[in-house]
Amino acid sequence: MNAEGNNGSLTFKVAPGGCLKGRLRVPGDKSISHRAIMFGALADGVTEIAGFLEGDDSLATLNAFRSMGVEIEGPEKGRVIVHGVGIDGLRSPSEPLDLGNSGTSMRLLAGLLAGQSFDVSMKGDASLSTRPMRRVSDPLKLMGAQIETESDGTPPLKVIGGQILTGIDYDMPMASAQVKSSLLLAGLYAKGTTCVTEPAPTRDHTERMLAGFAYEVKREGSRVCLSGGGRLRACAIDVPADISSAAFFLVAASISEGSELTLEHVGMNPTRIGVINILRLMGAYIEVNNERLVGGEPVADLYVKSSSLHGIDIPEDQVPLAIDEFPVLFIAAACASGRTRLTGAEELRVKESDRIQVMADGLARLGVQATPTTDGMIIEGGAIGGGTIESHGDHRIAMAFSVAALCANDVIEIRNCANVATSFPGFVTLTQGIGLKIAASRSVEPN
Ligand code: S3P
Repeated sequence: MNAEGNNGSLTFKVAPGGCLKGRLRVPGDKSISHRAIMFGALADGVTEIAGFLEGDDSLATLNAFRSMGVEIEGPEKGRVIVHGVGIDGLRSPSEPLDLGNSGTSMRLLAGLLAGQSFDVSMKGDASLSTRPMRRVSDPLKLMGAQIETESDGTPPLKVIGGQILTGIDYDMPMASAQVKSSLLLAGLYAKGTTCVTEPAPTRDHTERMLAGFAYEVKREGSRVCLSGGGRLRACAIDVPADISSAAFFLVAASISEGSELTLEHVGMNPTRIGVINILRLMGAYIEVNNERLVGGEPVADLYVKSSSLHGIDIPEDQVPLAIDEFPVLFIAAACASGRTRLTGAEELRVKESDRIQVMADGLARLGVQATPTTDGMIIEGGAIGGGTIESHGDHRIAMAFSVAALCANDVIEIRNCANVATSFPGFVTLTQGIGLKIAASRSVEPN
């Protein structure tokens, strides 16, 4: 992929060593923030959101609904008020929706928009423009949707409105919450029942939030179903801190001697906690304290301190539960003793970048023996050196290599870091505050 057009200018420079201490609350969960806007917009009544992620991705979703006629107040310090327009209340936007770097926005909206009476075009940045969309457009077409992609199945997308949708019973070929959610959103507008069977459990925020908006969703084992034609009732949503953002600190504290961190109010949905399970298998010390349920989602405070990690074969059943955390888990593996092997993770190749190749290239630059495979990676843990890393505009690659400096023996410089703002605005300031020796600079080169 090539996101340089947008992101060529921000570089992180991280000095080696140090340790992290303190308490912090990372920004709100990205997946939940997207869905809160979508369901709030379609609901009857006013939805109040607290803890909303003010990152570029969730703001892309917010702006998309504003341009479809939804009045949205905020965000202000994570507070957003969505004046729902009802299930059939969206209006045709005057321009194509620009969803920036956000695959979640585009895939979920494809389903939601398939059931509207008007046409909508959707576009994204250089990275999003390379991402596969047939995984949603093909099953949506089976429901009666009309969706056009580029000839290779990538964006821009054009969703033609005014179609009559019918529920399907879909056996999803890959474990994807985005595909599942897209079909369930289309299912709200379909005749009859829409069912999705997943090959492995994926994040279930859509199902939980639909229930919170008083919409019936039935789950039997790996199959989830809903019937179209209902209405959503507005509710209050408290977005927990994003475990995918907390993951950088779980690894950072584990790999740096003398570290001790408390991460507050972290979302602990069982479909998201693979990173904790994997790190514990590697020998990490993580306490889960003060567990509670907040608006249908489990939340806890996590305490993590430095430990000596060892390599493992990562259990394949943990892969979908940690799918966004592998960039930083690869760093944990590089700092661990012995070999770590990941298999069953081919989905990593179609994220914001090809995360298998980009991480393998970056680790190699730092002198780590990392062998990419079609569906994973084999990493020999040990010493990490310094060097310059190309993040390819992928936010999680940039943050993963930032924390790698804690166990490196020289400076790590990371290029193309502007997209960190898609999921973690304030990353540099927050990490500086707890001891990471990171500095951000804008380069003068034209992009
Ligand atoms: C997401 C699902 C995951 C994840 C993405 C957010 C969601 O993608 O990687 O960051 O909010 O549903 P897939 O469903 O494609 O695995």
